[in-house]
Amino acid sequence: MAIACHINNSTKMSEQTINFDSNPPVATNEYDTMAQMALPGYEAMHTMALSVLKANLPQTANLLVVGAGSGMELVKFGKGNSQWQMLGVDPSSNMLAIAQQKIEQHGLSERVKLFTGYTHDLAPTALYDAATCILTMHFLTDDGSKLALLQNIAQRLKPSATLILVDIYGEKGTDEFERMISIIKVFWEEMGMNPEKSMQGVETIKKGVYPIPEMRVMELLQQAGFSNIVRFYTGLWVGGWVATKNS
Ligand SMILES: C[S@@+](CC[C@H](N)C(=O)[O-])C[C@H]1O[C@@H](n2cnc3c(N)ncnc32)[C@H](O)[C@@H]1O
Repeated sequence: MAIACHINNSTKMSEQTINFDSNPPVATNEYDTMAQMALPGYEAMHTMALSVLKANLPQTANLLVVGAGSGMELVKFGKGNSQWQMLGVDPSSNMLAIAQQKIEQHGLSERVKLFTGYTHDLAPTALYDAATCILTMHFLTDDGSKLALLQNIAQRLKPSATLILVDIYGEKGTDEFERMISIIKVFWEEMGMNPEKSMQGVETIKKGVYPIPEMRVMELLQQAGFSNIVRFYTGLWVGGWVATKNS
């Protein structure tokens, strides 16, 4: 079932095929295992994201974690710095229930809070020193929805704040993207994924993920008010960029 994704009050509604509550690409209780298998360098990517944040932020900082999901980066960042405060935002209550368990298990409840909903539901006040949006924007179509997400994040960041964006990127239908799909299938096999899951994975990407070329990622970031954009991570077709909010 396609679920309408609320972008913000002023932009048109966009259909988001994948909804982690009603139409999850993978059972939510299998997400962590599958993410580590399916997303090239998943754990290392989170470590690199933490390194980027630590290199840019003071000991005391407020972080907005958009698309917090099952809480993997909340725990990583929360353990990586003992003073950062974080708000994890995600429309999926099922994913956030898993995140909440992890937060409690790791003793992070004082510093890490969760919000079930969208970034645009948060007060548009520049509160945060940094934001991350990891493996989330690629579920939105490039019809104004991706830009609105980035603008909604920008509105909640202080001047010169750091943004980390990680997404599957590339241009569907090109030879390059098709070659990447072939490589990904082999990668998944090497990681021990069974052929049925691998086929489902490719279908999910084809139907519910909307990658864009790196040039377009840069353009959207700039339009949303970010500059100083550097790619800090590449895992086959997953890219990670760090950007600075304009002053
Ligand atoms: C693939 S998971 C990524 C979770 C986590 N960031 C990680 O690194 O594993 C994507 C998450 O984004 C959430 N999501 C989807 N659309 C969103 C939106 N418009 N705003 C915020 N989160 C969204 C989903 O509910 C899901 O929990």
